Amino acid sequence: MLESLASGEAVLSDEEKDLGIALVDLGGGTTDLAIFSSKTIKHTFVLALGGHNLTNDIAIGLRAPFAEAEKIKKKYGTCISMNISSEETIDVPGMGGRKSRQLPRQVLGEILEPRMEEIFALIKREIYRAEMEHVIVSGIVVTGGSALLDGVLEIAEMIFNLPARLGTPFGIKGLVDVVNNPMYATGVGLVLFGAKNQSQKNFRIRDKNIFNRVVDRMKKWFNDVL
Ligand SMILES: Nc1ncnc2c1ncn2[C@@H]1O[C@H](COP(=O)(O)OP(=O)(O)OP(=O)(O)O)[C@@H](O)[C@H]1O
Ligand SMILES: [Mg+2]
Repeated sequence: MLESLASGEAVLSDEEKDLGIALVDLGGGTTDLAIFSSKTIKHTFVLALGGHNLTNDIAIGLRAPFAEAEKIKKKYGTCISMNISSEETIDVPGMGGRKSRQLPRQVLGEILEPRMEEIFALIKREIYRAEMEHVIVSGIVVTGGSALLDGVLEIAEMIFNLPARLGTPFGIKGLVDVVNNPMYATGVGLVLFGAKNQSQKNFRIRDKNIFNRVVDRMKKWFNDVL
């Protein structure tokens, strides 16, 4: 909930939060839904499916180790085969000393599309279950590390039948090049909250766990970038 609030702070406009919007944070272990309307958070939901499942599907589908599947996903991943030329190939390292193989890159679309559709369909089901489908008039914003996957927005628009955009953090001047990546939405949002509330002595982040996670994440930004 605090994480969703923070991500919303980093990637949504005031207008979107006022009119009504669904923020879908595609993380590693989970996909988090947060619905904003009238400038407040109306509903949250956590689905235990995310980027790890996409990687696992590649590992199984291509018979490759998980770590290799993760690399392949980040470098060549797509959830729409049609976006990829049929000529394009990828190198898949073999398991346990086997030779590497060449496969058409379109295979990744065939593996990832059904999983991505499943994730968005389950999120859509929750929106209807919560009777929030008429609240999200501004559409869908997709953020989190897995939002970087090619074709994610197209799948989202198809499943929700609403406009979808990528939630890239804005609002930290000077750090833009470092953190303007959907993966950092939560972290950037927490920094924005901190800055906004610095003068208010009564503001405290009570969830110590999330604070530590954000500090770890920030250390990682610098390791990744420097
Ligand atoms: N370029 C990329 N293409 C596809 N997936 C990516 C890319 N970069 C990162 N990811 C995926 O994003 C996921 C991590 O995203 P993020 O950092 O938002 O998750 P998290 O907040 O750490 O996890 P969670 O929200 O589940 O606690 C991983 O599954 C990773 O494989
Ligand atoms: Mg996350």
